[in-house]
Amino acid sequence: MAKDILTFLIDNRDTFVSGEYIAKKLGITRQAVSKKVNQLKEDGFKIYSKTNKGYRLVSFPDIIVPEFIVLETNFKPIFHHDSTDSTNLQARKHALDGFPERTLIVSEIQTAGRGRMGREWQSPRGGLWFSFIMRPRCVPSMAPILNFVVANAVAKAMNELYGIEPSMKWPNDIFYGGKKLCGIGILVSSDIDLMHYVVIGIGINVNNQLPKDSSFISISEIIGKETDRNMLMASILNKFKDEYTHFERKEFSTIMEYSKQISNTIGNRVRVSFLGVEKRGKVVDIDDTGALILEEDDGTVSHILAGDVDFLRHI
Ligand code: BTN
Repeated sequence: MAKDILTFLIDNRDTFVSGEYIAKKLGITRQAVSKKVNQLKEDGFKIYSKTNKGYRLVSFPDIIVPEFIVLETNFKPIFHHDSTDSTNLQARKHALDGFPERTLIVSEIQTAGRGRMGREWQSPRGGLWFSFIMRPRCVPSMAPILNFVVANAVAKAMNELYGIEPSMKWPNDIFYGGKKLCGIGILVSSDIDLMHYVVIGIGINVNNQLPKDSSFISISEIIGKETDRNMLMASILNKFKDEYTHFERKEFSTIMEYSKQISNTIGNRVRVSFLGVEKRGKVVDIDDTGALILEEDDGTVSHILAGDVDFLRHI
């Protein structure tokens, strides 16, 4: 792909830029500019060419364009795969190799995508599957709050881009209309008293087809048309940056206030399962550590930090 010129066109995408100007800036001939523009058009980029005016980037093909993400966010380096086993596993390798915060791995498909508790995560073409590294300087007990930091970012981005109001099933699933739209899988590496790194993995059904009667739903199904995964990823990363600032400042009640506002779990009767132990009761709240407060059927009140929630009555 003609990367140098693409970055240039993305940066100037609201205006026409002349071939002569681009050639001068990139230190190449006008013929070389025209050849690179044609290459981009063949790759599916829509570019207007106008005599006397030059070129204007109109739209991307349905692939992730790392150059766009770098320009729109402060996440880099970006490793873009057509196919990989799991972006979470790749990000973990990069974290162990010493890559910095905000290193991002994105793949068009994953062959071994993993969900929470090691479950399989289907990742076909058209969905958005990405992971990034963060290196918070804090105690490991703060890690569960990251579930809400990420979930808030995803929900806010979707609300802003599509005008939809997704809900959050504790601790971090994003739902819409009773179906799962996005899963968040966070890997943590820490000493007993200090976090080393976290890998934040986000999987969203966007333009991919889902089987009929699926318990999942996609963005394209909700809004009735395909959407640009680049815009969605950039928006989530920017919202994440804002939410993460609250995390760094330990402003947990600010984070939890929004999470509780969009929670579909508070007020419901649920079963919470963790490592073979089940508890049943009514969810009365989520506290500022991210724990679910469950009033069990025998009246006991538990603060639960990890587990799978099943609704005992309809959502
Ligand atoms: C869950 O809901 O169980 C969490 C799903 C997390 C899926 C994402 S897709 C990108 C990243 N890579 C993975 O293998 N998993 C996460």
